[in-house]
Amino acid sequence: MQPDSPLLKKEFIFGVATAAFQIEGASDVDGRVPSIWDTFCKEPGRVANGDDGSRACDNYFLWEEDLALVQDLGVDAYRFSIAWPRVITDTRGAINQAAIDHYRRQLNYLNERGIKPYVTLYHWDLPQYLQDRGGWLNRETAYAFAYYADVVSRAFGDQVVSYSTLNEPWCSAFLGYLHGIHAPGERNRKHAYQAAHHLLLAHGLALPKLRANAPLAEVGIVLNISPSDPIENSLADQNACALADMENRDLFLQPLLEGTYPEPVLNRHPDCVPLVLPGDMVLIQAGLDFIGLNYYTRNQVKAADGSAGYEVSPYRGTDATAMGWEIYPQGLTRTLQHLASHPRCPPLYVTENGMAADDQIRNGVVDDAVRVAYLQAHLNAAEDAIASGVDLRGYFAWSLLDNFEWAEGYDKRFGLFHVDYMSQQRTPKASAQALKQLMSLRRNR
Ligand code: FCB
Repeated sequence: MQPDSPLLKKEFIFGVATAAFQIEGASDVDGRVPSIWDTFCKEPGRVANGDDGSRACDNYFLWEEDLALVQDLGVDAYRFSIAWPRVITDTRGAINQAAIDHYRRQLNYLNERGIKPYVTLYHWDLPQYLQDRGGWLNRETAYAFAYYADVVSRAFGDQVVSYSTLNEPWCSAFLGYLHGIHAPGERNRKHAYQAAHHLLLAHGLALPKLRANAPLAEVGIVLNISPSDPIENSLADQNACALADMENRDLFLQPLLEGTYPEPVLNRHPDCVPLVLPGDMVLIQAGLDFIGLNYYTRNQVKAADGSAGYEVSPYRGTDATAMGWEIYPQGLTRTLQHLASHPRCPPLYVTENGMAADDQIRNGVVDDAVRVAYLQAHLNAAEDAIASGVDLRGYFAWSLLDNFEWAEGYDKRFGLFHVDYMSQQRTPKASAQALKQLMSLRRNR
């Protein structure tokens, strides 16, 4: 990184990210009720090795130790999520004070040390009692989310610097309802579209609550976008790419920025058009203070039979992470530029970026040189985006800790800190040292 890099300016926010279900454990402690992921983990064959989130990184108990790691890195911000099934514990909206107190202690810890809390309200842990009434297929879930957002933001107000309503609604809707990979594990495109609409509605209903209760906080949403490239330079594959981008990106982005769903997607799947009530789209397109982009890889796409008309090809090259995802930093620049090219695009953050590797402790050290190079390359890609005029405000590495990687269980390690799940010992990897060094370089400039 050049000494005059825009990333080294003090206004640029560096952070690390986590999510409640992936780290907290303590799934039945202090009044927490089950989430859809607790249920999903119990279904045979859903999660690798039959892993679950009941203990995870034990962060519910070890949070202070973990926040000390964040402080020691010297980053500006910590992005974490609040567990809805801890805070609101039944359909009548009972508020669990123990949960509010738990998160308040963390917010106090962060604010006292000048670390900015970036809070995500929904990182996939829907309370099971809502799933029992239809989950994201039930419009009432959107109102339940707005109530939960109201409760949280009343409690914490501007102690939170930045609220994200949803993390990656594409994953909740498409991995959860179309691909059967995430909870609740359905395979039904019509349901995926309806879930997408109710997720966006939940976001739209929550925005005014957050703004009223936390007038100084930034309010936004986090999207995962992987740019598509044709696997072959044929017209068919190029058209397939356009379909993929419209369904996976524009179905979420366009309603947020323009208040409409992309017509070609709806026309292609007339049976799947979601039920949208008058006024919904106005709520959904209410202005955002930021969009958070979670970027990991690109998709190589080919034309396919079937209603989707496209297929994402597994990456077969050598530059792959332990997830099998291609390492492709240029895609980050491109995606940021694409977002920023929209006249109504708000300022951007990279809210997640990182990679899984087969990290091992050898002689007390985890030498994750590939991750160090990955992070460096993606920071350079972010810098390129800024140089081309993108208003990028910050960058969060995924993740602070190795953690429960959803359907992949604990096998896939994304952390800057290695976690030994037996002893719950945290060990800094070389990537943690590299980030710490970068932060001290910036401070001492
Ligand atoms: C993202 C999720 C995050 C983590 C990373 C690897 O899709 O937001 O929780 O699992 O992928």
